[in-house]
Amino acid sequence: MRSPIFVALDTPDLEKAREIAGAVKNHVGGIKLGLEFFAANGQHGVREMASLGMPIFLDLKLHDIPNTVAKAVQALRPIEPAVLTVHAAGGRAMMEDAKAAASIDTKVVAGTVLTSLDETDLHDTVIGGDAHEQVLRLSELARSAGLDGVVCSGREVKAAKKAWPDGFFVVPGVRPSNGKKSDQKRIVTPADALHDGASIIVIGRPITQAGEPDTAARAIEATL
Ligand code: C5P
Repeated sequence: MRSPIFVALDTPDLEKAREIAGAVKNHVGGIKLGLEFFAANGQHGVREMASLGMPIFLDLKLHDIPNTVAKAVQALRPIEPAVLTVHAAGGRAMMEDAKAAASIDTKVVAGTVLTSLDETDLHDTVIGGDAHEQVLRLSELARSAGLDGVVCSGREVKAAKKAWPDGFFVVPGVRPSNGKKSDQKRIVTPADALHDGASIIVIGRPITQAGEPDTAARAIEATL
């Protein structure tokens, strides 16, 4: 079975992304490319990375009116990412239209509450309130809008999975027990995330900024 680890290659540098992907390829199940990479390299860059033979998770967290998001998803169809993100806060119609516009082979998943936000941040934004409740509410909205799953932190995945047993759960904000938090706040270990119901886990800096990314990826894989 493929590893549940998707390595987040958060760099605008295509060569660097290619180099790290090549180094960790035997210890991860796929590659996550985000805004930084896409802004610099576009669909051409995504195709280059896909040619390495690993599934691509395109994390663009699309959030706009339904028409705009649907057209953007349609424009991405030719690259057929395995996973594509939109923002649950965009609402039901936006998610329905995004799913309808995506390729049948693309899982469309909704971001809920960023793992870099804690209760204070939520209080300071228009969202307000409790992360746990927010995640469950947005997850239910994503499910009823026909999406494949959601992105949530490891702290909420157990409850979200219980409410949506066949949902696809993406958990970022994952850190080995001795790992640096950086800007992440609601973190869990890779093993705990999987134990609690993550379908895949996203790990960036603990792998990409290690002296030897392949050794770091192998060490994390060994804890699963
Ligand atoms: O380096 P690190 O492991 O913190 O990277 C996490 C990755 O997951 C980043 O690419 C970030 O954009 C993404 N992500 C996240 N929290 C979310 C959704 C996505 O950290 N809620």
